[in-house]
Amino acid sequence: MRHFLDINKTTPQDLRQMIDDARRIKEARQGLPRGTADDDQPLAGRMVALIFEKPSTRTRVSFDVGVRQMGGQTMVLSGADMQLGHGETIADTARVLSRYVDLIMIRTFEEQTLLEMAEYATVPVINGLTNRSHPCQIMADILTFEEHRGPITGRKVVWCGDGNNVFASFAHAAGQFGFDLTFSGPPPLDPEQVFLDEARAKGVSVDIERDPFKAVQGADLVVTDTWVSMHDPASARERRHNQLRPYQVNKALMDHAKPDALFMHCLPAHRDDEATSEVMDGPNSVIFDEAENRLHAQKAIMRWCLGG
Ligand code: CP
Ligand code: NVA
Repeated sequence: MRHFLDINKTTPQDLRQMIDDARRIKEARQGLPRGTADDDQPLAGRMVALIFEKPSTRTRVSFDVGVRQMGGQTMVLSGADMQLGHGETIADTARVLSRYVDLIMIRTFEEQTLLEMAEYATVPVINGLTNRSHPCQIMADILTFEEHRGPITGRKVVWCGDGNNVFASFAHAAGQFGFDLTFSGPPPLDPEQVFLDEARAKGVSVDIERDPFKAVQGADLVVTDTWVSMHDPASARERRHNQLRPYQVNKALMDHAKPDALFMHCLPAHRDDEATSEVMDGPNSVIFDEAENRLHAQKAIMRWCLGG
C-alpha cells in the first residue's frame, strides 16, 4: 500500500519521481510539450475522501480541483460531522471508508489518528497536515524552489520562527533531498530534536542559530510560518508573539541573505507579524507559486499512491 504519510517515510527516488512528475503535469497543462498531463484521466471512476478536522483553504481546494482534473470525484467530509467525531474508532472508520472510496486524504490533530487511519485502511492514505508535519506543503515548496532556482540539493534553507509542523517536514526533506537547514527561533519553540538528528544522520548540516541575521547569511531560501498554529491554544498567542517578534522576516533580514534568496510561506499568513507585506509582496517572494504548486504536487502524489 502506497500511503503518503511523511517525506521521511518515502524513498528519495520516489520523492524525486513525484517532483519531476509534478513539473511535467504542470507544464503540460500550460500548453507546453505534452507529457503525462491529465490526458490519461488516472482517477476516472474513482472516489476520493477529503477529511478535515481543521480549517483549510489551499489543501481543500487544491485536492478537490486536482482530483476532478484527473477525472475523479471527491467527497469533502468534516470530522465533526462524521461518527469519527462522536466516538467511532479511527480503525473502524478507516475500514468502512475503504469499502467506498479509492483514496483518503486526512487533515487532523494528532499524528496517531493519521497513523491509525493508514494502518487500518485498505486504500492509500495521504497526510494533509497533522500537529507534527505537513508533507504535501513541502513537496510543493521543493517544486517551487526548483522551478525558480534549479536543484535544491546542496542549497541552504533557513527557517525563521516557530519550530512547528511545517518546519518538521522541511527537516524531513533536508535529509531526503540533501539540502542544509538552519533553524532560527527562540529556545522554547525549538523543533523536536528527533527531526534534527534524523536529517543530520543523512549527512546534511542542520544548525540552530539564535541570531536571525547570522542565520540567513548565505541563504538560498528563507521560510517562515504563522506564529500560532491551528493546534496551539489561543491563550498562548501573546506569549508566542513576544517570543517570535525578533524572528520576523522583514526587508532588513532578507538583505542579509543572498541577493537572490527566495522567500516562502505556506500561507495563511498574518501579514506584518511573521513576515512584512513588503517581503511577502516583494521581488523574492514566491508565496503564490507555492500555493499553486500544491495542486500540481498533489496530483503527482495521488498518481504515485495509486501506482502511477
Ligand atoms: N498551506 C496550507 O495547508 O493551507 P490551508 O490551511 O489553507 O490548507
Ligand atoms: N503551522 C500551521 C500551518 C497551516 C497550513 C498550522 O498548523 O496551523
